[in-house]
Amino acid sequence: MFKLFPGLLVLVAALSLSVHAAPRGSGPSVKIFADSLGTNAQRLAVGLPPLPPKRRATGTRSVSASPSPSPRPPTTFTGHLEARSNNGTTVGFVKNTAGGVDGIVPPSDPGTLEVSFSTTATPGAPPFSILATNPAFPPPFNVGGNGTAALGSGSPDVVAINHVGFTSPFSPPSIDAGGESSIWSYSTSTKEITAQWINPDGSHPTTFIGWNSTANFLFLSGDLSAYNHAHSPAILQLVSTLPS
Ligand SMILES: *[C@@H]1O[C@H](CO)[C@@H](O)[C@H](O)[C@H]1NC(C)=O
Ligand SMILES: *[C@@H]1O[C@H](CO)[C@@H](O)[C@H](O)[C@H]1NC(C)=O
Ligand SMILES: *[C@@H]1O[C@H](CO)[C@@H](O)[C@H](O)[C@H]1NC(C)=O
Repeated sequence: MFKLFPGLLVLVAALSLSVHAAPRGSGPSVKIFADSLGTNAQRLAVGLPPLPPKRRATGTRSVSASPSPSPRPPTTFTGHLEARSNNGTTVGFVKNTAGGVDGIVPPSDPGTLEVSFSTTATPGAPPFSILATNPAFPPPFNVGGNGTAALGSGSPDVVAINHVGFTSPFSPPSIDAGGESSIWSYSTSTKEITAQWINPDGSHPTTFIGWNSTANFLFLSGDLSAYNHAHSPAILQLVSTLPS
């Protein structure tokens, strides 16, 4: 069943990112986490849309019970995307500017992105779109891969992470959408969000998330070392949390 948890239940997702060392730089390892947005009342107070209604009648707390139904309905997660180093130090948040979501800003910066996504987070769940819920930019409002390149081992090509139109899971890049949106997956066990880009020919390249800290550029890559071969790569993780 779809459960809403008022209060403080925090669900943590993680986006696995690989940080690109600046040219000549030693790449810091970074992770990204997200803040909780709280209850619907709190969401409304800050101008966010309420979360989808429970499927059960209001007042029904299905804490006990629930004869495990086979297909689990998706859960909605909302929050910020926060960057942390591997040692836990907060580096910043995925940004929200008139130009989109293409980069990371310091924790003190007010221009951080708030997002929402729904998934069962079960193995084999289809990839989902991440929706920007406080966009400072014009439509479209999905966070995805903004480009149409083919990624793959040995290729230095990358696709920017930015706002794109909606595309269905496993769809190749759409020129109309500006790329692909339903590319994200979430594991509650590892708390990691990963990306799976679909190439124009329909193939599924192993997809990494990279961040060029010099350019403050977030992107998808099929081969980080090909992109960054002259520099030492590091690992960045993006984590989004949300009680919903
Ligand atoms: C944690 O990592 C960051 C980025 O690599 C670094 O700047 C900071 O000094 C580290 N903090 C500690 C306590 O190791
Ligand atoms: C990026 O997405 C926008 C729509 O958000 C689109 O107009 C633009 O063409 C896309 N860029 C690329 C390289 O596909
Ligand atoms: C990162 O971006 C900067 C500025 O655009 C560029 O000069 C540099 O080559 C990029 N790093 C890598 C590893 O491509």
